[in-house]
Amino acid sequence: MKGQGIGFGKAILFNEHFVVYGIPSIVTAIGKYTVAKIEPYDQPTLILEDNRNATPNYKEEKIDQQYDSINRILKKMGIDTSKNGIKITLNGNLYAASGIGASAASCVAIGRALSDYYNLNLSDDEINDISYEGEKGYHGTPSGVDNTASTYGGLIWFQKGENNIIEKIPISNPIEIVIGNTGKVANTSAAVAGVRERKEKNPEKYKEIFDRTENIAYLAKRALREGDYKEVGKLMNENHKLLQQIEVSSRELDFLVNVAREHGALGSKLTGGGLGGNMIALTPGKELQEKVTNAIEKEGFQTMKTVIGASRGGIE
Ligand code: MEV
Repeated sequence: MKGQGIGFGKAILFNEHFVVYGIPSIVTAIGKYTVAKIEPYDQPTLILEDNRNATPNYKEEKIDQQYDSINRILKKMGIDTSKNGIKITLNGNLYAASGIGASAASCVAIGRALSDYYNLNLSDDEINDISYEGEKGYHGTPSGVDNTASTYGGLIWFQKGENNIIEKIPISNPIEIVIGNTGKVANTSAAVAGVRERKEKNPEKYKEIFDRTENIAYLAKRALREGDYKEVGKLMNENHKLLQQIEVSSRELDFLVNVAREHGALGSKLTGGGLGGNMIALTPGKELQEKVTNAIEKEGFQTMKTVIGASRGGIE
């Protein structure tokens, strides 16, 4: 159908927050996505119908940021809805929740849908730039990692710089993961600002932590390529500890991270901005994935089963 586009959800496997300062990160698209649809509207304005399933209060708390984001996208694309109105509808199987790229997925989906609706034939690189602009509506100074995963799919090495380094990490088979939702909506801007403040106050402590995260990224890339999931899991655990040290974890996140480990996950950590939102557990094989999912759900939390490395061909 004309005027449609999709954007993947994402999970950061290594180095959220550190990535804002140019430390390399590893991110995967997940097999869940947001779909945007554009239709003509008979009034000269923009209206939005957001039908995504969401964590309670997520949509209400993000509504101003969402409009800011869409207006940034329209401006970047040179589209003026004050003459010919449009209606944007959001659907898809990606939950609207903190930490799994809901904002980036919607920016990418909307960018693609607008490109299709107005016959702009934009490339993935152009969609990625537009989505980066849209992400600014949600979190001020995004690193670009989320929109990159949402646009291109797959497993990606991302390093922010004057020119971002974006490389696909080849893996032989998709790897099962479980995502656990704390049910708490988190504010990524506030989390990022908090890290900046503490980093400026404690430069020495933070330098030590940051140096180690850089090292972890290189070790993790090698372990992923070699299929050494035990090592990947160990590095995820260490990464979580460093994220705790920069104070972006929370009681619920630590609790779910431990539940996953106690039930056999090879590694687990918070994913995304933290302070609520979601955590991720590495659970290769359907059996382990099921076991960890059940353990988290038994504690009363919502889960999502998916795989690392989802791409267009791998949409569930
Ligand atoms: C949010 O998903 C990831 C952060 O590193 C922020 C960013 O990279 O823009 C916390």
